[in-house]
Amino acid sequence: MTPRIWAVLPAAGRGTRFGGEVPKQYLEAAGKPLIAHALDALLSHPRIDGAMVALAADDPRWPGWTSRQGKPLLRCTGGGERADSVLAALHALPTDVGDDALILVHDAARPNLRGADLDRLIDIASAHADGAILGAPVRDTLKRADADARIVATEPRSALWRAFTPQAFRRGALTAALERARAAGIVVTDEAMAMERMGVHPALVEGREDNLKVTTPADLALAEYLLARGSAG
Ligand code: CTP
Ligand code: MG
Repeated sequence: MTPRIWAVLPAAGRGTRFGGEVPKQYLEAAGKPLIAHALDALLSHPRIDGAMVALAADDPRWPGWTSRQGKPLLRCTGGGERADSVLAALHALPTDVGDDALILVHDAARPNLRGADLDRLIDIASAHADGAILGAPVRDTLKRADADARIVATEPRSALWRAFTPQAFRRGALTAALERARAAGIVVTDEAMAMERMGVHPALVEGREDNLKVTTPADLALAEYLLARGSAG
């Protein structure tokens, strides 16, 4: 049997940089919350079997969904850092999602994920033992600054990529990598960073630049525009 594919959505953050009362994953754009856009993008993909969301312990806003797009949607309690939330979700996955299952970790606040990017990510991650992530080459010129925001150097950018999500790894390998990072006291900012520490080299899959993570109010306005345009863009 081919290994199963599940999505994990860390959604336990408080949106400090965005500000305001409502955590950004619950803000609406184009008629539904950002987390619903993220879930529907993943669960409408024919190869994804289900999703696990990691929520804040005291989250009063989770609508209690137990399925979407006809697929199971499970919930668990996240942790203090993004990596803690992802690890909690990995531990909470059903046992029939084996160690060789492919897990797609995707930010709840990243609503504009397209099916074609998912197709390519799943194809490449399935073929690579080291897993794969969506990303895009850096296009702007990069400046190194001093403490007064004055330029001290121009950095070469030709080998640099921005890391997006989803990030796709085998359940067993990703769980072990995140546990090792935590035991070492290292806060990893994405799943690939935990895997890199294990000495592996995940593949970079070039994805759409409009797969944006909503961090600030300006990002929400852009997300609203992109989602309202829909797949025509
Ligand atoms: N996240 C999480 N658990 C945490 C921190 C973050 O599940 N302890 C999730 C967020 O809910 C979000 C994703 O990880 O879906 C990406 O994190 P980020 O954009 O940094 O969101 P926040 O941490 O909520 O925002 P901020 O850093 O501005 O507080
Ligand atoms: Mg954060």
